[in-house]
Amino acid sequence: MTTDIDQLRQDLLASVDAAMSLDALESLRVHALGKQGAVTALLKTLGKMSPEERQSEGPRIHGLREAVTEAIAARKAALEGAALEARLAAEVKDMTLPVDATPQGSVHPVSQVMDELAEIFADLGFSVATGPEIEDDWHNFTALNIPDTHPARAMHDTFYFPEGEDGAQKMLLRTHTSPVQIRTMVQQKPPIRIIAPGRTYRSDSDATHTPMFHQIEGLVIDKGITLGHLKWTLETFLKAFFERDDIVLRLRPSYFPFTEPSAEVDVGFSIEKGKRVIGGSEGWMEVLGSGMVHPKVIAACGLDPEEWQGFAFGCGIDRLAMLKYGMDDLRAFFDGDLRWLRHYGFSALDVPTLSGGVGA
Ligand code: PHE
Repeated sequence: MTTDIDQLRQDLLASVDAAMSLDALESLRVHALGKQGAVTALLKTLGKMSPEERQSEGPRIHGLREAVTEAIAARKAALEGAALEARLAAEVKDMTLPVDATPQGSVHPVSQVMDELAEIFADLGFSVATGPEIEDDWHNFTALNIPDTHPARAMHDTFYFPEGEDGAQKMLLRTHTSPVQIRTMVQQKPPIRIIAPGRTYRSDSDATHTPMFHQIEGLVIDKGITLGHLKWTLETFLKAFFERDDIVLRLRPSYFPFTEPSAEVDVGFSIEKGKRVIGGSEGWMEVLGSGMVHPKVIAACGLDPEEWQGFAFGCGIDRLAMLKYGMDDLRAFFDGDLRWLRHYGFSALDVPTLSGGVGA
């Protein structure tokens, strides 16, 4: 018996050491420690031994099992380490190689403009917030001071999901990015400075409307915020975005249920060679809606409107892209026509930066 166990131990440890692959090691493990394994067979003999025998043989057999188990684990770690080393060596990438001179894809103007906006607002201390495109009624309407019976609900041409069977509330595709205002105010303590770019949906389709479009929301909540802060922020943003100093804004009194007072903002344009160019004040184009956040909205988010004030604005991103880069049919944005994408798309390396000019 003694020599058997010693011999088996020597043999097994030697074969473990010699195993050249994880597969070979696994079959060795089954061979030694599996149900029909040699070590398992020895363990089974313990039951038939006399107490004295068991006292001397027990520790040796258990010791054998432990030694083999440990040896297999160590060999496994070594083999896995070697496999990883080999893979790392094989997957070397030469980072000094030049980029392919003819990249195939392009960055969609909407994505490019979103990056430009994030860059401009990051410089003003705003962070980017997001929210779900499938929203509930409370975030999209009620908390924004648009109660059930409010006519603004009809104006939004909302896409509703079918009612849930279990009486769960009816979900909808968000009609604007304003619900992100609510989500942010509920989650974060003021002061708040965020922008929220993203997809929005309304049942509407013609040359200037698509059922899915993009908006960017801006929200500032702090103490002592006034309409002056709003106007300065919008002016600074539009000057940076259009990369012109002669941007003229016109704030027109307007109405949104979630802001009071509310203003629609027009940007002035001039005619150069028969084309509209942003800058000057020969004509006006509406670019965004804005206002001071309604006290009821602030209260709906659990904040005290006596303590916190702020402004918000919402702006169509597709519209901004059209104005800046000179496309005239919104529908082409979403047709996926390769010729259009090649013409209007941006190189992946044109990352917008303020120092390089946001237009890249
Ligand atoms: N949510 C409004 C819209 O979609 C825009 C807006 C946002 C107006 C924030 C005021 C303040 O028309």
